Amino acid sequence: CGIVGYIGHREAYPVVLKGLQRLEYRGYDSAGIALYDGAELKMCKTKGKVADLKTKLEAEISTKGTVGIGHTRWATHGEPNDVNSHPHYSNSGDIVIIHNGIIENYDSLKKELKTRGYEFKSDTDTEVLVNLIEDVISKEDVKLGKAVQIALNQTIGAYAIAVFNKQKPDELVVARLGSPLAIGVGEDEFFIASDASPFIEFTNNAIYLEDGEMAVVRRGKEVKIRKIKDDSLVDPYIQELQMNLEQIEKGGYEHFMLKEIHEQPSAISDTYRGRMLVDEGIIRMAGMDDNMERIANAKRFIIVACGTSWHAGLVAEYIFEDIARIPVEVEYASEFRYRNPVISENDVVIAISQSGETADTMAAIKLAKEKGAFTFGVCNVVGSSISRETNAGAYTHAGPEIGVASTKAFTTQITVLTLMALKLGKFKGTISHSDFQYHLREMELIPNKIKDSLKSDTIIREIANIYKDAPNCLYLGRGYNFPVALEGALKLKEISYIHAEGYPAAEMKHGPIALIDEQMPVVVIATKKGHYEKVVSNIQEIKSRKGKIIAIVTHGDEEVRDLADHVIEVPETIESLTPLLTTIPLQLLSYHIAVMLGKNVDQPRNLAKSVTVE
Ligand code: G6P
Repeated sequence: CGIVGYIGHREAYPVVLKGLQRLEYRGYDSAGIALYDGAELKMCKTKGKVADLKTKLEAEISTKGTVGIGHTRWATHGEPNDVNSHPHYSNSGDIVIIHNGIIENYDSLKKELKTRGYEFKSDTDTEVLVNLIEDVISKEDVKLGKAVQIALNQTIGAYAIAVFNKQKPDELVVARLGSPLAIGVGEDEFFIASDASPFIEFTNNAIYLEDGEMAVVRRGKEVKIRKIKDDSLVDPYIQELQMNLEQIEKGGYEHFMLKEIHEQPSAISDTYRGRMLVDEGIIRMAGMDDNMERIANAKRFIIVACGTSWHAGLVAEYIFEDIARIPVEVEYASEFRYRNPVISENDVVIAISQSGETADTMAAIKLAKEKGAFTFGVCNVVGSSISRETNAGAYTHAGPEIGVASTKAFTTQITVLTLMALKLGKFKGTISHSDFQYHLREMELIPNKIKDSLKSDTIIREIANIYKDAPNCLYLGRGYNFPVALEGALKLKEISYIHAEGYPAAEMKHGPIALIDEQMPVVVIATKKGHYEKVVSNIQEIKSRKGKIIAIVTHGDEEVRDLADHVIEVPETIESLTPLLTTIPLQLLSYHIAVMLGKNVDQPRNLAKSVTVE
């Protein structure tokens, strides 16, 4: 979910509405806004998208007011409908709340509040929280900030909240535990949001609340931050933001996803720039340099991640083992954290996360830390929860990724992980100097080679047009390109809703081969390096069962061209870097299919960009 708030001298509605549009990638089952115009507290909410909310709100209520809060939701408790949407009023109608997260003990709190006469309109945990706050105010005669604090201390769960009380119209109270919350600090005005994108055009100054902190944001006053548990005051740390507006707008592309696919050449060079010093033959990464002994002496790396980031982890397994000779395990964060895993001080646990907020990945890192492992974060969002929780880390520097289907985050994750492996390999002596240099020089060529791969767009569009109505699709790859096959299948599933499976090409004969007939498109990654001849045999197996073959090949390949129905060429590179190139056509293929099917590419149904719930 995404939350936005404003208090100051401007009209709040346009600020909050635009903020919600920027945050819509975080959740879009429903949306709502509450505004206070000095006399009346008004609210409008609806199932559907922010655009639906705009139409409904402008028809139903006045948009006046200099205080406002808004929410875009990804349902956890209660189905997405108008009633369950946020904001939620308290019973008196004076207090209003927006909430991102889950209150786990809401049921027992609800029962107690019911015995005290409270009534509930929705099935949400959030409505319980706002009434609990109201109940505290009436019972203990405290101010809003105090009441929020007392109420939160009775809850178990995760939240980022913003609360407004009509009786105290010059303040907003916000708090966070487990879900991100930023406060934009302007001149006599404040902005609240799940990330900085809603307020970047108004101020570059932001305070990121830490877990367990709350703040009272008062018109014309300084922000007061306290620890929710023990009430101690915390000095606000105002950070200057590096992001700019252009980075979070579409810049002429039809969709964010397409823009982000095309940004990969520059995103990747941003990732390695300043780190890879080719002439000196070194890689500089502060998070590793400061902890080199600890990391290089690890008995094992455990990589924890979810979704696309997990696929980057699988690629990294090949890279780390190959180049740095360190045993690697790659785990779904959600499985790892609940499995009573064997972890020791000799392990390094690496969390990969674009958002740096994924709840399961965060919990996995906390667990690993408790068990004494050294933790390392590979995140894209600077200052995100995982980047702060880990002992050290390296940012991917891909810039904001808005499209829900991850693209440039994936390739920049692989870039960072490759640099890490090379640096370790050099330190440990598991890669020769000349091979190390060769890798760096090849890496420098990758951005241009991606530009080259992007030129296949027209061919890919034609292929998309032929197969867009297929109900199933199989993706195959071996070695470094096995995880790419998984990622290709995930991309197609996510945005076109076509069932797709990724498989190691050689495993095909143990099951998926039964699915192959003349209706089945099979995307095979068959680049020259890495088991090429074996993949060619797999292609023959598909062909003899009349499957339709779409092959990703190295420039100039003739052998596969003769066998396949369609080929998409990518430039040649060293094997460990091929995923950076072979991923590109698969991203474009799923993009074009989804567009042709009329799907919402940037905001596919049921998915959220940042999953801050378990
Ligand atoms: C969600 C997104 C995926 C993403 C995954 C992990 O499911 O829709 O695109 O790969 O979360 O997110 P993270 O921010 O931890 O990389």
